[in-house]
Amino acid sequence: MSFDQNQFDSILADFTIDSDELREIAGAFRYDLKQGLKDPDLSSMRMLKSYIGLPTRKETGEYLALDFGGTNVRVLRIRLDGDGKFEVLKKVAKPLVVAGEYNYIAADATADQMFGFIADLVEEAVEGDHTKKYYLGHTFSFPSSQTDLYNAKLIIWTKEFATPGVEGKVVNDLLKDALHKKGLDNVEPTAVINDTVAVQLAAAYKHDNVNIGCIYATGHNTCYLEPYADSAQEPMILNLESGGFNRLTPGRFDVELDKNSEKPGEQRLEKMVSGRYMGELFGMALAELFDEKGKAYGFTSIDMSAIMDDEDAAHPAIIQLVAEKTGHTIDAADADKVQDLVLRIVNRSARLVAASFTGILWQLQGAEKTLAPQTIAVDGSVYEKMPHAKENLMKGLSELLGTDAAAVETVLENGGSGLGAAIAAAVAASRK
Ligand code: GLC
Repeated sequence: MSFDQNQFDSILADFTIDSDELREIAGAFRYDLKQGLKDPDLSSMRMLKSYIGLPTRKETGEYLALDFGGTNVRVLRIRLDGDGKFEVLKKVAKPLVVAGEYNYIAADATADQMFGFIADLVEEAVEGDHTKKYYLGHTFSFPSSQTDLYNAKLIIWTKEFATPGVEGKVVNDLLKDALHKKGLDNVEPTAVINDTVAVQLAAAYKHDNVNIGCIYATGHNTCYLEPYADSAQEPMILNLESGGFNRLTPGRFDVELDKNSEKPGEQRLEKMVSGRYMGELFGMALAELFDEKGKAYGFTSIDMSAIMDDEDAAHPAIIQLVAEKTGHTIDAADADKVQDLVLRIVNRSARLVAASFTGILWQLQGAEKTLAPQTIAVDGSVYEKMPHAKENLMKGLSELLGTDAAAVETVLENGGSGLGAAIAAAVAASRK
């Protein structure tokens, strides 16, 4: 059996966004942003205040940094030396899920287990030292409503996390309790930031004009420095939670995926672009081609990378992977189609991210004739590792911005979650 051409074409069309539509989405993003600045309830994005601006680059000293936002939790001891210089003195990392052993992000896990596990990791990072005083910066990569740099309440889990007892809570209070139970009162959590904010802080510690920070990974989100030009308020980074942007028309696979997710209706943009979901979208489309609608094959974005990387015309790697995951043996012509499908899904993802950046850039440009130089800091496995993601993102920016695209640079800031958390801890310490 080989794929039906008409069906294939219609699936491809479902994942295609043309130039006009992309421009409309960028405009809608800017509109949503402007509405959100008036009142977050008017926007599909949460527009969360971070209570921090850009670093002065004079931040120095030794801090603990906790990076909690995906299935891998990391704790680092970092010494900041100022002017973009720093050293990681110790780094420990452990997954929150080990298949067959434990799973702290599932609906039957508890907040105590989750934060107890994190406190153990902190203990490892300080090498059992229960006396030396440490300030801890916490990169917590979920939507949290803050009243200051310390107080961040988890609004809602995203990225399919489901642990009960954390939503609605001040996450650093949970962490403090867990540290206390382990006798780690010498470790004082002082700041919580989103990972986008961490990436922006880390990049701005080293580069100029970093007004935008973005994560393009398991999840997707962007923050930017709101200048509050017309008001007395100090500039502050706003975590848009842009993964929640929904002024766009999802395709039929997007609709289906959303329906079956942990939080239907939430994170519509994220479910179209991020690594956590792209493999699923691809699998759903493939299931239709195999006439097995509804079957989940468990494709990941890593599989999608392997499919894009198979440049051999006979596509042995694609054929093998598809056979392993679906039980179907396809020929080289269909393997070509599989590759086209993957490319289209990744291309759509990168173009949508480009549209969201463009919306922010238009907002920053305001009524000015030309766009001032902008450095967008990005971190994440999709941006860093997925073939064609970065290239399509840049192409999308050129398509939308024309000659202004020359003013925009993107920098990879991997490791930003740790460095950014240390910078936030330093800022919190300076406010004490
Ligand atoms: C999800 C979270 C957001 C985070 C992003 C990237 O979208 O809601 O807070 O920044 O993932 O990790």
